[in-house]
Amino acid sequence: MFITFEGPEGSGKTSHIPSLVEFLREKGYTVFPTREPGGTSIGEQIREVLHSLKNTEMHARTETLLYQAARAQFVEQVIRPRLALGEIVLSDRYADSTLAYQGYGHQQDLEQVRALIKYATGSLVPNLTILLDVDVETGLKRKKKADEWNRLDAYTVEFHQRVRNGYLEMVKQEPGRWVLVDAGRKWEEVQKELGSLLLEHIPKL
Ligand code: TMP
Repeated sequence: MFITFEGPEGSGKTSHIPSLVEFLREKGYTVFPTREPGGTSIGEQIREVLHSLKNTEMHARTETLLYQAARAQFVEQVIRPRLALGEIVLSDRYADSTLAYQGYGHQQDLEQVRALIKYATGSLVPNLTILLDVDVETGLKRKKKADEWNRLDAYTVEFHQRVRNGYLEMVKQEPGRWVLVDAGRKWEEVQKELGSLLLEHIPKL
């Protein structure tokens, strides 16, 4: 099973995933956690270019293509081999981040972006995608506090608002794959809901 976590900045994905992995492993599942756009040596190098606060001249199309380059490598080198072994792959972000950030955020043509994603992933779509939804102001505040500020976080509040709205739109368009979780609540509450949600969707052992 391929499960992805999505969300705007400061939604808490990265802090929730390790505990969920532990939770599932305790239940006997073989879980492989990973993150986009890293997860491979090539991907990590591309991430550096994407996140560097020096690269302010980067065009939205360059940004879109770099994410797809990292993703193509990630799918072939990490995700497909793990899925072939029957493992549960949990990824912190995947292709929907491109639709949210580069598509909705940068207002690139959504159909063209979808076509690029299809090419980069060889049409690999997650079985389940969890949206950790949080309002933009709370999310950006959390992110600043965590001291993980990157080039994308520095985009305008309007950009991040479009990203969040883009995610909400995607949930509406594909309700069979997406589940929305309110991540504005206490960490423990959100974690509990995520655990039950995963057990509900993952086939019983
Ligand atoms: P984060 O997951 O650590 O928050 O950082 C990843 C950043 O990269 C985040 O700002 C979202 C952004 N991103 C995109 O803009 N497009 C993508 O396709 C992916 C995977 C991430």
